[in-house]
Amino acid sequence: MKTNQNTTFKNTFEEEVYEGLTAFPKYLSSKWFYDMKGDKLFQKIMALPEYYLTECERSIIEENKADIAQLFSDNTGFDLVELGAGDGKKTKILLQELVNSKLNFTYRPIDISQNVLDELEEDVLKRWPKLDIKTEQGTYFNILNKLSKQQKDRKMVIVVLGSNIGNLSHQYAVEFLTTIRKSMQPDDLLFMGFDQKKNPEVILKAYNDSQGVTESFNKNLLTRINKEMDANFEIDNFKHWPVYDPESGTTKSFLVSTKDQTVTIQKLNLDIHFSAWESIHTEISQKYDDDIVNWLAQEAGLSVEKQYTDHQNYFTDYIFRIKN
Ligand code: AVI
Repeated sequence: MKTNQNTTFKNTFEEEVYEGLTAFPKYLSSKWFYDMKGDKLFQKIMALPEYYLTECERSIIEENKADIAQLFSDNTGFDLVELGAGDGKKTKILLQELVNSKLNFTYRPIDISQNVLDELEEDVLKRWPKLDIKTEQGTYFNILNKLSKQQKDRKMVIVVLGSNIGNLSHQYAVEFLTTIRKSMQPDDLLFMGFDQKKNPEVILKAYNDSQGVTESFNKNLLTRINKEMDANFEIDNFKHWPVYDPESGTTKSFLVSTKDQTVTIQKLNLDIHFSAWESIHTEISQKYDDDIVNWLAQEAGLSVEKQYTDHQNYFTDYIFRIKN
């Protein structure tokens, strides 16, 4: 692992914590939210009344499942590759439709967590014992890389739900979409959810729920550093602070130090000083409109073939193809 003057990093998490907390302004990546506790908190967030994203996308899939299944289907069968499958709650509505329509397909859920995949596989096989399921553990990037090298003999439909792309800045979103496009052939489809720009109050509430679950989710990052790197963050000395900029459509979440304090991270040999009201930027959750999505697609060599929206126009699932 990489080292700097006084520290050897055991893993990328350590390296990124060092980099982010010694930078100005301070930042940490939201990808580190998701340890076992973070996974549970995110499940709780998805069930919150304020976190409208999940219910909107569920309703879109429920109402359009027949049309979507029709678009996915192919005479020789197809592979349904889901990136970041999680518990697959919304996908199961689609799976039920595909099974009812007697379509020939293999479900290939991909997730970073083997635990999540084992639970998903068990549940899928309990519901549909004959369904062909092949789980794969890994990062999006590794798996897409592998897919692009595989000899493909049938159509592939890639599914990315939940506006997961929103946790990437536009630059990385284009890179992500480009990597996906490189793994696709002309008949393949990409089905992806994008949370839309809307009343800023609705958006802010989704990231600042009344039960404080999102606050715990954000602060879990500090708890993780305490646990995994022998640090002494006093969690109560930080404030959860989401903001939404309606011009750029970017929600940013911060942890703000409520006082002048120094935190020691033993495993990194590091003392970090926080001035009163200094921030750590921890997450972006980008909101979109059709123009932004079409621009991202264009940059990545994709084009929008079809789109589905909920009744309030809060959320849109787009179907993309390689641009010709
Ligand atoms: C996973 N991701 C799309 C969620 C979001 O909306 O940015 C994560 C999240 N952060 C706070 N609440 C939910």
